[in-house]
Amino acid sequence: MHKITLPANSLMLSKDFVYGVATSSFQIEGDRKGRLDCIWDTFCSQPGTIEDGSNGDIACKHVEYYLQDVELISSLGVDAYRLSISWPRVMNEDGSVNELGMRFYINLVDVLLQRKMKVFVTLYHWDLPQHLEDKGGWLNRDTAYAFQRYAAAVANALGDKVHAYATLNEPFCSAYLGYETGIHAPGKTGVGNGRKAAHHLLLAHGLALQELRQLCPNSQHGIVLNFSTCHANTDTEQDKQAAKWADEYHNQWYLKPLMDACYPSVIEKLSNEERPDILEGDMEIISQPIDYLGINFYTRTVYEANEKNWFNVVPPVDTPLTAMGWEITPDAFTELLVDLHNEYTLPPIYITENGAAMNDELIDGEVKDDDRTEYFHTHLNAVNEAIEQGVDIKGYFAWSLMDNFEWALGYSKRFGIVHVDYETQKRTIKQSGNAYAELVKSRINRYISGIK
Ligand code: NOJ
Repeated sequence: MHKITLPANSLMLSKDFVYGVATSSFQIEGDRKGRLDCIWDTFCSQPGTIEDGSNGDIACKHVEYYLQDVELISSLGVDAYRLSISWPRVMNEDGSVNELGMRFYINLVDVLLQRKMKVFVTLYHWDLPQHLEDKGGWLNRDTAYAFQRYAAAVANALGDKVHAYATLNEPFCSAYLGYETGIHAPGKTGVGNGRKAAHHLLLAHGLALQELRQLCPNSQHGIVLNFSTCHANTDTEQDKQAAKWADEYHNQWYLKPLMDACYPSVIEKLSNEERPDILEGDMEIISQPIDYLGINFYTRTVYEANEKNWFNVVPPVDTPLTAMGWEITPDAFTELLVDLHNEYTLPPIYITENGAAMNDELIDGEVKDDDRTEYFHTHLNAVNEAIEQGVDIKGYFAWSLMDNFEWALGYSKRFGIVHVDYETQKRTIKQSGNAYAELVKSRINRYISGIK
């Protein structure tokens, strides 16, 4: 069996480094009847949107099985659990709190605390209430203010029992995939739509942050961004420029406003109609200090210039891939972390997601996913390398605790360190899950035996 190991002197083997597992509401919860509809319910009901024609109605039935699921997480020995709140479960359409829905999360947080785990809560992991989408969704500036009110309701209910709040998860996906290319809910398209949605999402982040700070002064507050390093296909100036535009358009578009209160220079390539409406004071709201930055990383991307002086993705050839068709590139992970550290004055970082979908097989009650274990091994070592190069990284969350609804790919892709049988809802810890648990536990033993 493969193991996950780190260099003997690694800071990631000290008890202060936080290890966790992550999930999100729509991907695991089920219990659609207990909440309002969200944009993913609508999107899933449209033919051809989801590869296997599935939806989130049942998913992993986590609302029903949450107590067992917390036992499962606890059995892995991890320090923390990153979950997201379903906005349409906790807020009624008239803006009042759905007490029953909120109760679910209060109970969940309480059992996690009883199990001595730190709770990381994400407020928006893509499940926008459909009634807000009906009024324009993230294209409507009012949605940012609705998000602020929702954030205050959650902060009032959960308070500083939550160790760390994140306003948004991967606003790139919400804006670009949801409103620009249309491969995610709500399936809208157009450059102007994507950029406008991104701006309103960032504004929503800033507005929510004000509430969170005031209501939960003892919790950490931040945001989760995804990054894929951008590489030029050839050494030509054109391809190098293409990779730079792609980096600004997909990565820096979300980080630079937070850190430097402005969009990257690629904004100048857009027509006036394509640019977001930035009102006075917006950039100050967006760029308030955060306590930590959550970083999600999976793979790198290669670009070439096209005839429009813009960028095209070059698909990987002859390199090891995950079941998503994503290149396995741990070196790019180190490069990303070191580059961001050099470019910005960042707050401490948590790796809030990292992991891989693999072609798992459950045989005789076991999933021997050495390939996933190897992925974790190389990527955790990549994080360690970044720490050695001076990057302040406080923790790492494996994506995901268990197999779940992988958005437009439905249940066809499995990211879990725990296997889910969707017929019976039986959970089986995969070998990668055991390897992760062993790494976490070995760290505790090292501490107790006094070896640093
Ligand atoms: C990032 C997203 O936050 C998560 O929801 C998704 O399942 C993983 N990437 C894998 O694609």
